[in-house]
Amino acid sequence: MGDRSINDSAESADQIVSGSATPADLNIQSRNRHFSSAGIERRRWAGGDPYATAFFNALSLTFPKGETFFMKVLKQYRDEVPAKLRREITGFVQQEAVHSREHLFFNKQLESSGFDLSRLEKNLDGVLDKIGTMPLIKQLVATTCLEHLTAILAAEFIANTEHFKNVDSEQRKMWLWHASEEVEHKGVAYDTWLHATRDWSRGKRWIVKSLFMTRISLGFAKNRSRGVFDLLRQDGVTGPRAWFGFLHYALINPAPLRRTLWPWLQFMLPGFHPWNKDDRHLIQLAESEYDAAIMDKPQAPENVMPIENRRKGDSLPKVA
Ligand SMILES: [Fe+2]
Ligand SMILES: [Fe+2]
Repeated sequence: MGDRSINDSAESADQIVSGSATPADLNIQSRNRHFSSAGIERRRWAGGDPYATAFFNALSLTFPKGETFFMKVLKQYRDEVPAKLRREITGFVQQEAVHSREHLFFNKQLESSGFDLSRLEKNLDGVLDKIGTMPLIKQLVATTCLEHLTAILAAEFIANTEHFKNVDSEQRKMWLWHASEEVEHKGVAYDTWLHATRDWSRGKRWIVKSLFMTRISLGFAKNRSRGVFDLLRQDGVTGPRAWFGFLHYALINPAPLRRTLWPWLQFMLPGFHPWNKDDRHLIQLAESEYDAAIMDKPQAPENVMPIENRRKGDSLPKVA
């Protein structure tokens, strides 16, 4: 009896990452959803809005390679972190693997419809190659920053119904599903960062993560804008119309970038942790929009149906 309580307390101590506010009962698991069967009905699938569509398409372009990079980084810490975080990294990897798979298919549909994504791909490859040559701890802080950007946009997409009000059904389901899992695993990279830097002073940790967040955010703004304007141009929207239209979308209505400014800044406040705000109700809210299919064992990405074998008619119609 006495031995058992000693072992129990040793295990619970092992499971706590110092400074983490991650809920003890958080269970990160992949829902392994497939969204390709319905295809994309319209080229401007985001409610007919070219700016929203270009923004989401530019984000989607980054997911397969970006999230593969995040998985690769966190996997390298999996064997050294406490047991609870180890399980969360496993859940994170399973979720991101499925996100990558679904967005890869989505991006193929964009290409089939006539979009040339090669410039955006090349730009992304350059950024990831550059980060990939950094020491592992810098790759981890970059991942932590990018995961924060993803999580705050995800929370905004779910909380503000304006974003997906008129979006085609299958796409709304896919983006809400992805957003809900981003909220669910929003603390994993941060907790891994806390663990990896547990011997650092709070000051050093703050300076490094704040500098990286500034650098990553500037790069994110520059590269995603470049992607949006490239895609808008291919959609026939150019010049001042493209600029005013996109700025109006991003900053005025529905304003995804303006509305995430405060959550973005919170990353740099003392005592920040992604789970200081428990917004798990957003996961339920997103799930209420589609039929949740929680599965016990997500398939490994290599075991899922190859894109070529998916149902005919999955492709985005070309514009006349
Ligand atoms: Fe993701
Ligand atoms: Fe993520």
